[in-house]
Amino acid sequence: MFSSFAGKHIVIGVTGSIAAFKVAGWVSALAKEEALVDVIMTAAAQKFVAPLTFASLSGRRVFDDMFAAEQEGTMSHIGLAREADCLLVAPATAQTIARLAHGLADDLLTTTILAAQVPVLVCPAMNVKMYEHPATVKNLKILKEYGYHVIEPDSGLMACGEEGLGRLPEWDQVSQFVLREILDKDLAGQSILVTAGPTREAYDPARYLSNRSSGKMGYAIAGAAFRRGAEVTLISGPTALEPPPGVTCIPVTTALQMYEAVMGNYQKASVIVKAAAVADFRCTEQHREKIKKDSSSLMMELEANPDILKELGTICEHERQLLVGFAAESSNIEQEGQKKLKNKNLDLIAVNDILSDASGFAVDTNQITLIDRNRTVILPHTSKLRTADLLWNHIVDHKLLKGN
Ligand code: C5P
Repeated sequence: MFSSFAGKHIVIGVTGSIAAFKVAGWVSALAKEEALVDVIMTAAAQKFVAPLTFASLSGRRVFDDMFAAEQEGTMSHIGLAREADCLLVAPATAQTIARLAHGLADDLLTTTILAAQVPVLVCPAMNVKMYEHPATVKNLKILKEYGYHVIEPDSGLMACGEEGLGRLPEWDQVSQFVLREILDKDLAGQSILVTAGPTREAYDPARYLSNRSSGKMGYAIAGAAFRRGAEVTLISGPTALEPPPGVTCIPVTTALQMYEAVMGNYQKASVIVKAAAVADFRCTEQHREKIKKDSSSLMMELEANPDILKELGTICEHERQLLVGFAAESSNIEQEGQKKLKNKNLDLIAVNDILSDASGFAVDTNQITLIDRNRTVILPHTSKLRTADLLWNHIVDHKLLKGN
């Protein structure tokens, strides 16, 4: 399996919070993805989890004592700070945050961070009152001013029994922020608008017209753009998915709501990717009461929704904005794609064969054909996550971004 973490060197600083046990799972996940993981533990962290746990999962010795590390001739704090791809402090206690904010270098972790020449990410995890205390708020502000990336904690029930902000987020969230720091930022400076998912067109209070789009492809495109350094806004119809970390999500239900949201946001975008499966028609009348099954047949009148992409094709400033469409086709993939590229005045179209088992609705894999004004490229059958990166590779490699 392709992994963006393979061959990367991540140093994780574990401090004394009960959430330290969760980070054992992170080390295990990174090691499985063939990252090189070095763990530095504070003295308090070792009261919660034994260094042997991290050593067994990373396959490497755990660093805890600055002077022992120097004596053994192993990599010093300066070496760790210089050679890693990034430093991640997780969980970061109020105490360690305060030490970092004031430049203390009283153990191996703080000394390493003070010497760091690589990105530093900090995941605060503590009791909600400690997190909201003005001292912690001020210290986190100082860390941000120093250029450290502070990852906001989750809200919920804590080990101490209180509820609120301060829980360590899950690895599937944190990993996206880490990847953004260690991957090539080839979309840095881009403001990207992605639409995803189906729309729902109400018929009566209980029923609606919709389609089988799961939103997976659009969400993968938005997440990949964030990891590659872009500012991303995702306008999404109803899906069962969590918005990708770091992405601003605007939820909508109907095609008309999606139209309004796109028109209100497209101007600031440098790239617009319309992966949503917008309903072509809506019910002319939306009944206030539930329709009874009194008769043996039912006529439903529909009216056309605006074609948002087509309208963007005419109003978009193509010299400044890249317009990317999607098309779900069941035959003549390439010809249909070429036709839509021209009719809708797009820069690039990604065509799906919805009859193939390898691509289309709800599945986790896809196989798309990319058609731009100069070339047609058939991407390999792979996961939607990988397809998203291949789409961005195509855009970057063929210099389709405007201003190139
Ligand atoms: O014409 P067709 O529906 O096949 O085109 C699909 C593309 O057009 C997708 O990018 C989809 O997001 C967009 N679309 C739209 N508004 C519609 C219908 C489709 O933006 N009403």
